[in-house]
Order: sequence, then C-alpha cells, then structure tokens
Amino acid sequence: MTADIFLAGAGQTAFGEHWDRGLRELMDEAVDRAIAASPCTALDIDFVIVANMLAEFANAQAHLGAMAASLLPHRPPAIRVEAACASGAVALHTACALLESGRCETVLVIGVEKMTDADPGVIATGLMGAADTERDVPVGMTFPGIFGMIALRYMHEYGLSREDLSLVSACHHDNAMENPFAQFHRRITREAVSGSTMVADPLRLLDCSPISDGAAACILSTKHRSPTRIAASQIATDTLSITERDCLTSFPATREAARRAWKEAGIRPEDISHIETHDCFSIAAVINLEDLGFAAPGKGIGLYKMANPPVTVNGSGGLKACGHPVAATGVKQICDTAKQLAASGNRYGLAHNFGGIAATSCIHILDHGNS
Ligand code: COA
Repeated sequence: MTADIFLAGAGQTAFGEHWDRGLRELMDEAVDRAIAASPCTALDIDFVIVANMLAEFANAQAHLGAMAASLLPHRPPAIRVEAACASGAVALHTACALLESGRCETVLVIGVEKMTDADPGVIATGLMGAADTERDVPVGMTFPGIFGMIALRYMHEYGLSREDLSLVSACHHDNAMENPFAQFHRRITREAVSGSTMVADPLRLLDCSPISDGAAACILSTKHRSPTRIAASQIATDTLSITERDCLTSFPATREAARRAWKEAGIRPEDISHIETHDCFSIAAVINLEDLGFAAPGKGIGLYKMANPPVTVNGSGGLKACGHPVAATGVKQICDTAKQLAASGNRYGLAHNFGGIAATSCIHILDHGNS
C-alpha cells in the first residue's frame, strides 16, 4: 500500500430473508452501524462506493450509487461497482485506490444484495452472469453444477471422501452459532450434510451457500486512524468459463492474488490467525486454503480435521452459514475479520472473496497492530 489506510468503522445487517425491507433500508442500517462504530460523522465521508450484482434482475433497480449517497446528508459523489460475488472486495479495492491516490480521505464502501423475494429461476439466471453466458449457460451449467464437477474432479485426483467434505459445512455452522448476524443458527452434523438433499452430485443442500438478503458497510480512511490497517489489497483474474481452464482443482487467480498480497503485506501465511474465505460451496473452501498457501494441494481438508488448527477458518460461519447476499459478502468478510482480530488480540487476518469460478479473486490482509 502506498498510504496508511485504516478501517475506521464497520457494520452490517443480519443476513437472511428480509422480505419487508428494500435495498435502501438494508444499506441504511449497515451504514448507520458503520458510522456509529467509527470516530467519523456522516459528513466526513467524501466518496461512496456501492457493490451490487443483481439489482436489475432481482429488484428492477439500478443507479445504486446515487441511492446510497442520498442516505447521507451531504450527498457525496458515489459509484457502483460489479464483479459478481467478488463485488464487495472489488469495491474495497477501488476505495483503497482512491485513498492511495490522495483524491479522497474517507470512503464509505457498501455491499448490498436482495435476492430472496425474486423468483429462484431469475436468481439462478442472474447468478450465471458470473460465468460465461456464451460457453457455460447453453450447455445447462449452473453454479451448483459447476462446483459439483469441481468437487468430483478433486475427489478423483486427491481421494477426498464424501464424509470428509461434510466437515466443512458442519464446522462453519458450528462457528455461526456465536454470530448474531448469521442466517443459520443451527448445528449440523457431518452425517446430516452427507445425507441432505442432492443438488448437483456430489454436492448436497448443506454443501451450498444459501440465497440471502443483506448489507454490510466499511469506512476506510487515511485521516481517521484506528487499530486496524489494510496491509494488502489485491485482485487477480482468470477466464470466465470453466471450459477454458486447464485444471479444475485449483484457482490460479487466487494463487496470483495471494502471491501479490503476501508481497504487499510483507508477511507469510504463518503470520495469519483468522481467515474468512469464499465457501460458496464446501469444496471451494478446501481448494481456497490450498491456493492461499495454508495447505499443500490435496491437503486442505486437513485444517478441518485438526483439534487446534493454526488459523481460524470462517470463524463467522462463512458464506455457508452466514448467508451469501452476493455483493455484500466481501464487505462483510472485512467486518468479521476485524472483529475476530479485536477479540483475539492477534495481529493479522485475511479476507478472500471471489466471483464466478474465481474469475475475479480478491484478497485483503488486515493488520490489527496499530493501536
Ligand atoms: N443451507 C442450509 N439450509 C438451506 C440452504 C442452504 N444452503 N438453502 C435452503 N435451505 C433451507 C431453507 O431454509 C428451507 O428450510 P425450511 O423448509 O426449514 O424453511 C429449505 O432448506 C428449502 O429451502 P429452499 O429455498 O426451497 O431451497 P432451494 O432448494 O430452493 O435452494 C439451493 C437450495 C442450494 C439450490 C440454493 O440455496 C442455491 O442455489 N444455492 C447456491 C447459490 C449460489 O449459487 N450462489 C452463488 C455462488 S457462486
């Protein structure tokens, strides 16, 4: 980073079904909480960035930048960014660039999505916009189907068993029990995951992140200091279509974003205590831990088998148990990582958010050593 960027405040709504509230109300609650948690007033915010993927599909609403700015008394400049499920982290990265350039001193980043009151077919079609609509959609692929193929290939290459894969969702549901903002507060056993309804072989209902509503907000500032600094903000990209990948069991964009993030922060995986990673489907969490450098290829599940793992993985409950209102997820991961660092007193945490089949992969490293 070419400037010291502090996480001045963060807040979120509960994730889940919010049939009685629109995009505006969800953003408003998250923004109010972020401002209340910061040393800033609304008037300190000199730019707003809104992350959203599906508002035109699901809510017949565009122009979310101006909608968000209208929540603030002085209506600052505002834009919307979209990078599928990685929209939230890409919005944070955009904010870092504005702050590093010196153009802004305090930027409000909001991630918002409202998915549950739209027709599920509309949502599935909208979500497939994160893949390649010319190459993947015509052959009938859906996201559970794509990650089902990835899981089958991974099991074939590395011998991962169905029972072991079920550890991922069981662990994330356990972690969410302590998180008041999570969509699900329900322990699930490994057997319940393996026995849940088949969605796309071998993935079952309890391997999948759900459809969700929610918003999260972060205030990033070069002026208002806080104990938590952004130590790295990196994005890498890959092909949209799975048909153009050489390998299904690793995501090169994550490996590249991680390589750059370690370099930017000047630390190694051993220095990280808390990870929030993009478990849109259980198999993704396993692959991500390998691509991020926390396990060797084929060994990611090992972290879920340890009694005392060296890092907490998805201590919030992750996408699986917190819910996945897609563009809000990347922003919410920063809220959770900061919260976990403050609670544990540890120094470094990592948030990893990806879009599509990790066609956009983003990493933020937080340094809580600035008090
Ligand atoms: N985890 C746990 N419980 C879930 C769940 C999930 N992922 N999805 C739904 N449920 C529960 C619901 O709460 C509901 O419980 P209830 O009957 O007690 O109210 C029940 O299962 C049925 O819910 P329903 O909404 O009918 O599920 P569905 O079959 O329409 O959808 C999925 C289930 C898995 C297909 C859907 O959640 C999905 O498509 N997830 C993936 C989303 C996605 O692709 N995101 C982008 C990732 S890149």
